[in-house]
Amino acid sequence: MIYINKYYPDFYYTVPMKTVAVLIFFCSLAVNFPVFAEDEFDMEKEKRYLKTLEKIMKKIDKEYLTEAGRALFLEKCAFCHGKDGKGRDGFAANLTRRISKKSAKYTIQNGGHNFKKSFPGSMPPMVPDPVLADVIADYVAQGFPPVHPGKKIFVKAQCARCHGTEGVGIRFRAPNIRYFDLSTIAAILRNGKKGIIGRMPAYAHFSNSQITSLAYFIISLSTSGKRAYIRNNLRQ
Ligand code: HEC
Ligand code: HEC
Repeated sequence: MIYINKYYPDFYYTVPMKTVAVLIFFCSLAVNFPVFAEDEFDMEKEKRYLKTLEKIMKKIDKEYLTEAGRALFLEKCAFCHGKDGKGRDGFAANLTRRISKKSAKYTIQNGGHNFKKSFPGSMPPMVPDPVLADVIADYVAQGFPPVHPGKKIFVKAQCARCHGTEGVGIRFRAPNIRYFDLSTIAAILRNGKKGIIGRMPAYAHFSNSQITSLAYFIISLSTSGKRAYIRNNLRQ
């Protein structure tokens, strides 16, 4: 830009506008730095970043717990349940599924009072008719399929009173018989279990984190379609 002096028109000078602009910019940075900084801080972006970080940490936690559970399982449980958790040909329960038809039928007909610390009310013997008990046990063992003759009998026999309509258990009343979750596995470990297969010792001295990691590992073995759901929603 060129300025012409009106008294001495021969005298003119130029102003280097770009340099001035740069100087003003740096001065304002020096003076207003905190204000500038606040303007440029994008709260939403920061929140999104923290959320992503949280997700990554959770995933790492899950993988870490599952591996810790695997190590503990190999040390303490594989002797009976086998390295793969399949139960060594019927020697102990097959942990790749919630419960076998045989075990479910046995409890339905004989009741159960293994998990007294977690479900003090116990389960009374129900469904004396062996044919009906068989159908209902099949329904439970198959993981509550949407179409099954046992569905109606489950409702009629009022199993939902204690196990809930979806079979996922009610706190202090009855365990989840649809799939393994943390509280059900905790109940089994704290109390042990004697059933038609045999006797599972209690591990009452295990810490919460030991139980949690074993639960993560056992759930990772599950072959049912619910596995992904449980993996993502494991709750205490
Ligand atoms: C009065 C409450 C109650 C009712 C009703 C009830 N249950 Fe139970 N059920 C329990 C409790 C408590 C347990 C845990 C038993 C134990 O401590 O060994 C259990 C355990 C079970 C188990 C074994 C779970 C395991 O891991 O060993 C199955 C299977 C089962 N119930 C199915 C049924 C079915 C099917 C019905 C309906 C015919 C039914 N229950 C009705 C309370 C009930
Ligand atoms: C001495 C052998 C033995 C050892 C060791 C053992 N279990 Fe078991 N477990 C059993 C038997 C037997 C059953 C089946 C009981 C029945 O229903 O008859 C069982 C059942 C289970 C069940 C299913 C219970 C149900 O409600 O259906 C789980 C879960 C389980 N064990 C986890 C474990 C874990 C985790 C360990 C290691 C900390 C372990 N077990 C160690 C013998 C054992």
